[in-house]
Amino acid sequence: MKEFIIKNGNSEDIGEITDLYREVAAIEGGLARTADEISAGYVGNFVSKAVESGIIVVAHAPADNKIIGEIHGYALGPQVFAHVLGELTIAIHPNFQGVGVGKALFTKFMQQVKEDRPDILRVELIARESNGKAIEFYKKLGFAVEGRMTNRIRSVGGGFESDIPMAWHRNPVG
Ligand SMILES: CC(C)(COP(=O)(O)OP(=O)(O)OC[C@H]1O[C@@H](n2cnc3c(N)ncnc32)[C@H](O)[C@@H]1OP(=O)(O)O)[C@@H](O)C(=O)NCCC(=O)NCCS
Repeated sequence: MKEFIIKNGNSEDIGEITDLYREVAAIEGGLARTADEISAGYVGNFVSKAVESGIIVVAHAPADNKIIGEIHGYALGPQVFAHVLGELTIAIHPNFQGVGVGKALFTKFMQQVKEDRPDILRVELIARESNGKAIEFYKKLGFAVEGRMTNRIRSVGGGFESDIPMAWHRNPVG
């Protein structure tokens, strides 16, 4: 399944992205939100912020043109963070995980950061510690672990786990 179509997302995609996030969130251990916490309002908010100040990229399946993957990030707001692209989230439909869609989307996303957005010096994200697949994936894309937020995530079924902040820097940091 390499024949997906990658393009920038926009407000017309909100309905399909909402459906996608609900499907992804239904499986524990990936997204922080549960399926019932994914509303059209939540998705509409991040799509409009990403269109306005950040980057949003979607993957469509060629068979039916449905959105099967999405990645976005946007400016945090205050001017002191104007060089930071934050609130990054990536979600691939469960039926299409592990076949390269995430890699293609994230590579396109970082290409746009590197080539089109010289104002962005830092891209940041957070992954739960148990999501080793995602953490290894982000390392391959140039993200480094910056710490460990102990017990930040409440695990389904009881207990807590740590959240791992990671960042990519345009210029090497000492
Ligand atoms: C994590 C996620 C974004 C990865 O996207 P994907 O399309 O499934 O991944 P890809 O097939 O493009 O593979 C990218 C990398 O992920 C890792 N990976 C993918 N499948 C893996 C698996 N089954 N086991 C371990 N690592 C795996 C590898 O590092 C791989 O790189 P490689 O191909 O160079 O070895 C996707 O699985 C997803 O949406 N998961 C649920 C939601 C989630 O966890 N979001 C991130 C929250 S921080």
